[in-house]
Amino acid sequence: MCGIVGIVGREAVAGRLVDALRRLEYRGYDSAGVATIHGGRMDRRRAEGKLFNLEKLLDAEPLPGRIGIAHTRWATHGVPNETNAHPHFVEGVAVVHNGIIENFSELKDELLSEGAVFESQTDTEVVAHLLAKYLRQGLDRRAAMLAMLNRVAGAYALVVMFENDPGTIMAARFGPPLAIGHGQGEMFLGSDAIALSPFTNEITYLVDGDCAIMTAGGVEIVDYSGKPVQRRSQISQASAFMVDKGNHRHFMEKEIYEQPEIISHALSHYIDFAANTVKANDTAIDFGKLSGLAISACGTAYLSGLIGKYWFERYARLPVEIDVASEFRYRELPLSPSQAALFISQSGETADTLASLRYCKQEGLKIGAIVNVRESTIARESDAIFPILAGPEIGVASTKAFTCQLAVLAALAVGAGRARGTVSAEQETAMVRHLAEMPRIMSRVLNEVQPQIETLSRDLSRFKDVLYLGRGTSYPLALEGALKLKEISYIHAEGYAAGELKHGPIALIDENMPVIVIAPHDRFFEKTVSNMQEVAARGGRIIFITDEKGAAASKLPTMATITLPNVDEIIAPMIFSLPIQLLAYHTAVFMGTDVDQPRNLAKSVTVE
Ligand code: AGP
Repeated sequence: MCGIVGIVGREAVAGRLVDALRRLEYRGYDSAGVATIHGGRMDRRRAEGKLFNLEKLLDAEPLPGRIGIAHTRWATHGVPNETNAHPHFVEGVAVVHNGIIENFSELKDELLSEGAVFESQTDTEVVAHLLAKYLRQGLDRRAAMLAMLNRVAGAYALVVMFENDPGTIMAARFGPPLAIGHGQGEMFLGSDAIALSPFTNEITYLVDGDCAIMTAGGVEIVDYSGKPVQRRSQISQASAFMVDKGNHRHFMEKEIYEQPEIISHALSHYIDFAANTVKANDTAIDFGKLSGLAISACGTAYLSGLIGKYWFERYARLPVEIDVASEFRYRELPLSPSQAALFISQSGETADTLASLRYCKQEGLKIGAIVNVRESTIARESDAIFPILAGPEIGVASTKAFTCQLAVLAALAVGAGRARGTVSAEQETAMVRHLAEMPRIMSRVLNEVQPQIETLSRDLSRFKDVLYLGRGTSYPLALEGALKLKEISYIHAEGYAAGELKHGPIALIDENMPVIVIAPHDRFFEKTVSNMQEVAARGGRIIFITDEKGAAASKLPTMATITLPNVDEIIAPMIFSLPIQLLAYHTAVFMGTDVDQPRNLAKSVTVE
């Protein structure tokens, strides 16, 4: 996903803009650029690849100026190269953009018929040409901006600079987020508060349909008709977290090892550790009165929801309809206001998840958001926010957010069971006690299994295909393990319900495809051991992730057995997440891939 920053400053801005872009690198990108205005002249530097290339360019050809905009591009329209990199210039107008202009080809045809000459393949360039056209027709800059905004359609964050106005940056948001940062005699804007945290923590978030006119003295926000709107500023927490790797090689490794501490933050928001109870859920969603739940999310967030489904159905006897958001939003699922809908999203900006939320909202359901960014769009459009308090997750592959999502879902499911009378006070106390043990057990597991997994990963990195198997709540874990491995090591990996092995995947079994079996000694254990026997009988290599009871019970030969402590089933998914995260991480490190920013991936997918 693209990153945007802008500064109307009191001193040179080019270096600060690039520093701010660096704090957005986690979003994924393939080219970058910066533009400033100095001495009545607007100029730019753009480079393909990492920010390092742009910095080299700036060292060789510095860009003076106290006003500027900058951008990291994640290609949607047009290959990643310098020509397609932002900012785009047309007749003294500079534009950077995040998102998709859905009617760009119609607009481009119109502009081409009027003689416009395009230099890039991007949809963004259409915006610059449209603004130039309106300025040529005599509109002033603000009118030209509003006219353009009333023409373009799609999801976008747009930031514009005009060569003949070196004191103003204009911006608009319809989809991907934009934050305004309030400085002392200078103003900032960025895709999120993390980018702005070195400059300020006083943030105003634009909402869809806002157009901001920002000068060094402040910001005016209007709607697309030009009518002023009020937006409150807030103190962002993003600056409270110094976002750096500490003594880890990658953000992903840091975030894996943060989990014991972070999950206790998440739990403390939902659990009364003294009373061993789930805190009252005083949000707009009353689980005691619901006829059912709909859950929708993408990727890893969807997989946490899949585990949550097992818990809501088992402990709260609440039927759950769940689907990936890109399917959910088009199914036109018959829903009733007696249901509620939960949307799970680390970033709180995923386009498909947001679209599914809006569908459920128009169907009259109460909306709950399980998010890591409380100021995000998904949170703001929900009736109830369930924060996961994981702190900024920078690694594109989600780890700490996943286990925190699970912790929140477990607490909500137990709380829902209490509210619906399907979980007794004694059961609640027992489950809460198990949840409270998690930080300690996670720390132990991370330290105990790390050396074995690092060695095992060296072997695993030699294979081209891997199969993950699990039953019950270990089935979504099998899917998550496969997703982790494939998205950072680029090894093909599939997750399957263990019981489905004989319905097809068993045809794949041979010594060239390791089978990773996730099986705590729970009520499914014996059945999963049978699946392992089917694999072993066909020469398959098994990596067995189990607990002490499981390791003692199974005598099957394995490529490796990773033994975790015996834990209660309500926390098994969080504990068993750790070895699958570490396995993917170390395998990717051996493969030499870009662990924190894997190819083609973005941290937050704000386009369809
Ligand atoms: C997770 O490892 C992936 N990077 C990806 O699947 C992610 O979970 C998905 O894009 C959803 O993002 P969100 O949680 O920010 O909505």
